[in-house]
Amino acid sequence: MKTVSITTKIAGVKLDACIFNTSGPADATLGELEIIARSQSPAITMKSCTLAPREGNPEPRYADLEYGSINSMGLPNLGYKAYIKFAARLKRKYKKPTVASICGMTLAENVTMFKAFNNSAVDIIEFNPGSPNTIGKPIVGYDAGEMDRLLDAVSKVSKKPYGVKLPPYFDLVHFDQIAAVIKKYPVKFVTCINSIGNGLVINPYTEQPLIKPKGGLGGISGKYIKYTTLANVRRFYELFEDKIQVIGVGGVYSGIDAFELILCGASAVQVGTAFLQNGPGIFERIQNELKDFMAVKGYKKIADFRGKLKTL
Ligand code: DHB
Repeated sequence: MKTVSITTKIAGVKLDACIFNTSGPADATLGELEIIARSQSPAITMKSCTLAPREGNPEPRYADLEYGSINSMGLPNLGYKAYIKFAARLKRKYKKPTVASICGMTLAENVTMFKAFNNSAVDIIEFNPGSPNTIGKPIVGYDAGEMDRLLDAVSKVSKKPYGVKLPPYFDLVHFDQIAAVIKKYPVKFVTCINSIGNGLVINPYTEQPLIKPKGGLGGISGKYIKYTTLANVRRFYELFEDKIQVIGVGGVYSGIDAFELILCGASAVQVGTAFLQNGPGIFERIQNELKDFMAVKGYKKIADFRGKLKTL
């Protein structure tokens, strides 16, 4: 059992394990980030940031569901300058790689933040070009032309290795279009998938939605979305021919969930709703379950099975 290794490398940065926290849940304040730092998460991913601090959408804006969650947080964050400071502090104290998530409201905001993070302790940037929950703003990942314009601009200024967090795609032609845009730029990885945008959960007894913003519409996460995650990871893994890495996120609650994403091609797996619902012990649990399952299968490292989904 001791011989099983689940280390990985993302964008050239070594991670002691391939399971870490995703941007979004419980990662907006220094206190929350220190909880992640002290957990078995091998990296510390921070909340998507904007130029100015934001309060986010009116509450209630998050609800646990039987098999996952719905949220329309609206990007509550302390502004990018806070995360530059937090990254330096966390790096000094915990010596773990940090991942910044940049989610500017405009092209100019994104460029400003990418430039600022060049001179930071952050190891990796995850560009999140479109929150599904910003009122009045479309999800950029569904607009290939806009993605092209943004990636062109940030690629020109970024000195840190960066990847792109993508919304879920459902039509095969959209995978091709987005992959073609991403291949034009020095993108090191894609993170698939963001929540499935604009679901609606209602309470039939009160006859109300569960969350307040956008008439109740919000991003669906957790077990409901795992099969969409698997498909997105698989399709991008095939389209990028392993030249651009894929990080899988969406519906991972167990080591076997993580195994499935890696089998489809993921080089690492992030955990979101399951972390919120189970606390920071989830990283160690999923890592141990993954190692146990690999041992049963006779795999010693993730390269032994990564991407090797068999055909029927
Ligand atoms: C928020 C939600 C997202 O799915 C995302 O990618 C960024 C921000 C939010 O509502 O805060």
